[in-house]
Amino acid sequence: MNIKFKNFNNLKYIGGVSKIKNIENPIKLSANESALGPSKKAISIYAKYSNKLSRYPDSNSGILTEIISKKFKLNSNNIIIGNGSDEIISLACQLLLSPKDEVIVTEYSFLMYRIYAKIFGGKVVEAKEDNFKADIYSILNKVTSKTKIVFIANPNNPTGTYLDKEEILLLRKKLRKNILLVVDDAYSEFVMKEDYSSGLDLFKNYNNVLITRSFSKIYGLASLRLGWGYGNSKIIEAMKLIKPPFNVNGVAQMVAVESIKDVKWLSKNIVHNQKWAQIFFKNFLRLKIITNIPVANFFLMRFDNKNISADKVYDRFIKSNIILRKMKSYSLPNALRVTIGTDKENILFLKTLNRIFDV
Ligand SMILES: Cc1ncc(COP(=O)(O)O)c(C=O)c1O
Repeated sequence: MNIKFKNFNNLKYIGGVSKIKNIENPIKLSANESALGPSKKAISIYAKYSNKLSRYPDSNSGILTEIISKKFKLNSNNIIIGNGSDEIISLACQLLLSPKDEVIVTEYSFLMYRIYAKIFGGKVVEAKEDNFKADIYSILNKVTSKTKIVFIANPNNPTGTYLDKEEILLLRKKLRKNILLVVDDAYSEFVMKEDYSSGLDLFKNYNNVLITRSFSKIYGLASLRLGWGYGNSKIIEAMKLIKPPFNVNGVAQMVAVESIKDVKWLSKNIVHNQKWAQIFFKNFLRLKIITNIPVANFFLMRFDNKNISADKVYDRFIKSNIILRKMKSYSLPNALRVTIGTDKENILFLKTLNRIFDV
């Protein structure tokens, strides 16, 4: 073929595996999805929407924007709804980056930051972490006159670690004012640590911070593709101009409205996650599996001190119908990530783990 096009072959994102050959309903603990799924009220709205499928959705996701604005006490002009928070990340890179602009990411950060930065012509600069945790001084050391964006997921996927309030505030304070700090709050609702504050809580009044939030995690709506961004109204307005006109489907908008209203469901998810995160952690300690302290709805398990490889552990879990997340694409070949699941799934996970590692 003579038509020339850009080659992005090396940027492929590989999500958590969801199928195992010859197994009907595997237990998927590979993508940090919600253990309990969406609110029942949200599901009933989904069903109701079936007679409206022929209509285009509201291009500005107006009702959803309003409810987010009310719930979090935000000006609606500072909010953009996206097809997953993923789309907000993409739009930010598209809007801000010109060739040679630099984007700082931490060593083991969510891969889409790098992928979008590269697609939109930026140069990715990696800041080393300190024992699997973002290090603000290492980030600051990487800043040059070309730095345009710094991405921080707090808590971070896949390491499960977080920057405390002081650290992240200090990072913003020490970064040049014209660098956009993107704080990715995808897992913030799960965090119950005293020294933690979400990006939204800390940076509501900052012009040079973009916060992203997701409906894929605690709200259990990963399949509907829904997230949002909050930032400077000029940046948000410019992002709205370049987004696809009907980027968020109508069903997703209405289901999200109902999900936000169901505060009880959210609390139930938090309680479930807290309980199991502690149980998982105790097991990891007892079995001497190196991991992060309980923060979000997943753990990174490292096997460097074990005489079994992550691949072998993965295969043993597959035999129990459990799919974990391999970490090779994050340059962590000897680690696996596990998402907290339902009671039944977690019990089977722990049984299998103990069978592999108990001496
Ligand atoms: C840190 C982080 N940010 C963003 C996302 C993307 O979420 P969404 O489904 O809202 O696009 C993920 C998904 O795994 C994530 O781990």
